[in-house]
Amino acid sequence: MYGKELGIIGTGKIGSALLGRLISTNTIDRSKIIAYDKDENKRNKLSQEYKIEYAESNEGLARVSKYILVAVIPQVIDTVLKEIEPIITNEQVIISIAAGVSFNHINKFINPAVGLIRIMTNTPALVGAAATVIAHNENIKDHQLEFVKGIFNAVGMVVELEERHLDAVTGLSGSGPAYIFIIIEALADGGVKMGLPRATALKLAAQTLLGSAKLLLETNIHPAALKDMVTTPGGTTITAIHELESAKIRATLIRAVEAATLKSKSLNSAKINNNQ
Ligand SMILES: NC(=O)c1ccc[n+]([C@@H]2O[C@H](COP(=O)([O-])OP(=O)(O)OC[C@H]3O[C@@H](n4cnc5c(N)ncnc54)[C@H](OP(=O)(O)O)[C@@H]3O)[C@@H](O)[C@H]2O)c1
Repeated sequence: MYGKELGIIGTGKIGSALLGRLISTNTIDRSKIIAYDKDENKRNKLSQEYKIEYAESNEGLARVSKYILVAVIPQVIDTVLKEIEPIITNEQVIISIAAGVSFNHINKFINPAVGLIRIMTNTPALVGAAATVIAHNENIKDHQLEFVKGIFNAVGMVVELEERHLDAVTGLSGSGPAYIFIIIEALADGGVKMGLPRATALKLAAQTLLGSAKLLLETNIHPAALKDMVTTPGGTTITAIHELESAKIRATLIRAVEAATLKSKSLNSAKINNNQ
C-alpha cells in the first residue's frame, strides 16, 4: 500500500545527518526513502546530493510513507502534525525526534490508535556516533520497533527506555555533548598552560576522551577499575585526581545532569499548560 519505507519531514541538521548515514550504510535503499523540507534550497541540494525523491508537501509524503520521521524543531511540530493528521492510518508509524514533545501532546493531533515512537538522540549522530534512546507507545509492534532501531543504529548506539525517562536522557546524553566539549577544551587549556601547542593539546584531549569511552564500552569494566589502572601509588594521576575531587567535579557533573533534567521537565509542563 505504501511505496516508501521512510518519509523524513525536515532535513535540517539531524534529519540530513540521518539521511546521509542511512544511504551510506545501505540501511534503506534510497528508492524507498522520501523527504520533505519547507526550505527549497535544502530540498534542491539534498535531492541532488543523496539522489532521493522529495515530496511536494508534508501531506504528499504522508500519503506514501509507511514510517514518518518528524525531524523539525518542537516549535513547528504542531503545524506538521495538523497537516498530516487527515492522512495518517493505523498502518503507519510516526517517529518524533522533537525534544520534549510527549505522546500525549502528539495525540492531541494524531489518532491514539496510531503507533508512535519518540527518539532522543544527540549531535554525534552527525558522525555516526550518537547515543539514541527510543520509547514507544502501546500500538507499536515488535517488527516496527526493530525497523526503527535499525534506522538509528545507522547513526550510533540505540537503547530502549520508557517515555518517563526521556527528560533524564535529555539531561544526560541529549545535552551531554556540550558538557564534554567544555571538558575537552579545559583539558587542552591545561596542556597549553603547560607549554603544549594548542592544536596538539586539543587533539590529545579529544582522543583521550574518545579512547577512554571506547575502552569502557568495549571491555565493560567499571570506570572506577579503569581509573585505578592509570593510578600509580604516589604518582601523577592520583595527584591530579586529588585536585579534581577537591573541586567537587563529581558533584558538579551530577548537579549538571539534574539541572538539565529538571529544566527539560519544566519546559514540557509549560508546553502542556500553553496548549491547554
Ligand atoms: N540538534 C541537536 O542537537 C538535537 C539533538 C537531539 C534532538 N534534536 C531534535 O531534532 C529536531 C530537529 O533538530 P535540528 O537541529 O535538525 O533542526 P533544524 O536544523 O532546524 O532542522 C529542521 C528542518 O525542518 C524544516 N522545517 C521547518 N518547518 C517545517 C515544516 N512545516 N515542514 C517541513 N520542514 C520544516 C526547517 O526548515 P527552516 O530552516 O527553513 O525552518 C529545517 O530544515 C528537533 O526537534 C530537536 O529537538 C536535535
